[in-house]
Order: sequence, then C-alpha cells, then structure tokens
Amino acid sequence: MTGQPRTVIVTGGSRGLGAGIVQSFLDSGDRVATCSRSETDAVREWRAQYADRFLFVEADLADREQSTLFAKATLDQWGSVDVLVNNAGVARDGILALFSDEDSDTVIDLNLKATIHLTRQIVRNMLARDGGRIVNISSITGQTGYRGLTVYGATKAALDGFTRGLAREVGSRNITVNSIASGYLRTEMSHGLDDGQLNQIVRRTPAGRLGEPDDIARAVQFLVDERNDWITGQVLVVDGGLTC
Ligand SMILES: NC(=O)c1ccc[n+]([C@@H]2O[C@H](COP(=O)([O-])OP(=O)(O)OC[C@H]3O[C@@H](n4cnc5c(N)ncnc54)[C@H](OP(=O)(O)O)[C@@H]3O)[C@@H](O)[C@H]2O)c1
Repeated sequence: MTGQPRTVIVTGGSRGLGAGIVQSFLDSGDRVATCSRSETDAVREWRAQYADRFLFVEADLADREQSTLFAKATLDQWGSVDVLVNNAGVARDGILALFSDEDSDTVIDLNLKATIHLTRQIVRNMLARDGGRIVNISSITGQTGYRGLTVYGATKAALDGFTRGLAREVGSRNITVNSIASGYLRTEMSHGLDDGQLNQIVRRTPAGRLGEPDDIARAVQFLVDERNDWITGQVLVVDGGLTC
C-alpha cells in the first residue's frame, strides 16, 4: 500500500470529524468512499474536485439494507477496501433515569450495531485479500464516563471491546483493528455541551484547548500506515491529555 493510492471508507464523512478524515485521505492521494443521510457543501465540492477518486452514497447506516448498498457501491466501484474508518456516531444527552428507549435505540443502533454490520461486510473483503486496516472512532467517555452521556459512553466502551475481539480474529491475516478514543472536539456533536461544561473541559485539558478534526485525522493516518502492522487491538487516547 505504501505510495500506492488506497481505497478508504470513512463513514459519516459529510461534516465534523468525518469530513476532516475524508479530507486527509484525499490529500494523501487516496480513493475515498463516504456516506451520510444527507449531502453537504463539502461533499459537493469533493465530488467536483476529485470526481475519479471520491464516492458519496446517501445512506442511513442504521438501516442494514442501506448500509449493505453503501458497501456494495464501494466494492463495485473499486473492487476492494484497504482502510475502513468507522466514524459515524450519534450522541443523545440526558440522565439515564429520564432517558427514552427511543434515544437509547438511536445511539445503540448507529454507534454499535451499524458499525458491526458494516465492518462484517468489509472485513470479508479484507480477509479475501489478506490485508487491511480498521479504525473505530471511540470516545474517552467510554473509559471515564460522563454524566448525561451514559448510553453513548456504553456504546463507545463496547466498540473498544469489539476492536480487541476482532483484532484477535484477523491479526494473522495482516489486518489491524484499533480504536481512537477521542477527547472533546469542536464539532456539531459537542454543541450539546453548554459553555460552562466546555470551559471546564478546556481548563482540565493539559493542551489547553478542545480538539480539532485534524488532531484525530493525523492519529488515524498513523494507525492505517502499512508499516504499522504491529499495532493492533489498541485503544489510542487522543484528548490533549484530559484523561492522563
Ligand atoms: N465531537 C466530539 O466531541 C467527539 C468526541 C469523541 C468522539 N466523537 C466521535 O467522533 C465521531 C464523529 O463525531 P462528530 O463530532 O464529527 O459528529 P457530527 O458532527 O454530528 O457528524 C456526524 C456524522 O455522521 C453522520 N451520521 C449521523 N447519523 C448517521 C446515520 N444514521 N447514517 C449515516 N451517517 C450518519 C452525519 O451526517 P448526517 O447527519 O447527514 O447523517 C455526519 O456526517 C462519532 O463517532 C463521535 O461519537 C466525537
């Protein structure tokens, strides 16, 4: 894969962290397939600028049929997948005692069940070719817990367990599987936190700021580097030192 364009799937790449990760792979000269439920200006610009190596599919990953169509569209277009970045995720905040089953299902269906479903489809292709890199975007809330993000944190902790189990299953086939436990980023998702909460997080962060998509995208690039075949089953914390 070194020097050769890779085929990369980044889920939820229309905005926020996913868009930063998509951009970093397009900057590296790779082919990128992404999906989300709706198109954004960023998607339209990438399509115009990188027509031959950018694919966008409008898909709700929580719907298995749509997820399958997204995987199929990518494989039909490029034949194989070298890198899968499971980024799409959703948060619903509220203390558990008042949390609805509907919100619980929304968070679990996308963060966990949809990630498992898509990964299963793509890892089959990686196994057939004896190679691949999988990165799951997790969260420090899965390790430390955060009041009001109990179900969200549970899905991220589960994703880290999924990472370790799958790493053991596919390690002998030159496929690595790692999680990045991200700290708090300046994206739409963190709009659920009020100014007081965000200021407190910044005060407690040794690096003295919230994260940017680029901070995580660089860590993703490191983990998917072909030379890094001895790092697998790990949860890399990228949080400006907040949890150190
Ligand atoms: N922001 C943070 O502070 C933070 C911290 C730690 C970890 N993370 C993790 O980082 C990842 C990205 O978060 P973000 O902050 O970039 O969130 P975001 O700004 O809300 O973006 C989420 C992306 O996922 C897509 N998406 C949402 N629901 C989807 C669905 N059902 N099917 C397909 N795509 C869907 C969204 O597009 P549509 O809405 O159009 O579908 C969008 O492209 C998530 O896994 C999140 O848990 C974020």
